[in-house]
Amino acid sequence: MISQKPVRLFCSDLDGTLLGDEAATLEFAELWNALGNDSPHLVYSTGRLAGDAQRTVTEAGLPEPDFFITGVGTMIQKPGSNEKPLEDFSSTLNAGWDAELVKSTLLAFGNGIEPQPAIQQHAWKSSWFWHNQSAVALDRLRDALASAGLDAQVIYSSARDLDVLPRAANKGNAIRWLAAHLDIDADEIVVAGDTGNDVSMFEIERVRGIAVGNAEPELRVLTGKPGIHFAAGHCANGVIEGLAAHGLWPARKQTSSL
Ligand code: GLC
Repeated sequence: MISQKPVRLFCSDLDGTLLGDEAATLEFAELWNALGNDSPHLVYSTGRLAGDAQRTVTEAGLPEPDFFITGVGTMIQKPGSNEKPLEDFSSTLNAGWDAELVKSTLLAFGNGIEPQPAIQQHAWKSSWFWHNQSAVALDRLRDALASAGLDAQVIYSSARDLDVLPRAANKGNAIRWLAAHLDIDADEIVVAGDTGNDVSMFEIERVRGIAVGNAEPELRVLTGKPGIHFAAGHCANGVIEGLAAHGLWPARKQTSSL
């Protein structure tokens, strides 16, 4: 059964979810700010790294979050903490992980895989471009990593972005960790996203979710999962609509852009 509990934590992706339609982003900000002291914890979970995420949020006029989950769930930061990740979380990521070995394994694997710019890489995130790949090709890459003795996970987004991460790192595991830290149950959390790197957030048992109207086909795996609102509205319009469906605020009379 879908929880009717009050929302205590809202965790949203940025690009293509809260961002992508400037007017809707600002409307979300206005609605959120109007919640005042009653607002749930706000978390932005993004593939961007911390400095970039913070700049993007400020420029877009989004409310300051309580936490950033950055680098596809590899780091958790409080805003204004000089990008210093929470050590207790980061220390869970080292098992089975060797960033140099990941890099050499992908370079040897070839098949058109190309590294993303250095600014996108860090100790627990190895990011690449690999266009239009099938599930079979991705499994071949997973086999190559396993044969090299790595316990890594492969996340594919937007039919282009390939992230190789430690087994324990993804957006879903980062929220699980944060929710435990804040003493919040899964059915008090709403997550929102649009691409493959968001799937792990929706997979948390009993979590509620919002798949925005412009979501990639990668989110089709969520069809039939209880508690997921598949929004008609795109980007932040979909988020506003979804948070109304989950009871955080009243539904709007009209959706401005579908
Ligand atoms: C963001 C990151 C990129 C990553 C992608 C998908 O665009 O900048 O490095 O591959 O998200 O997770």
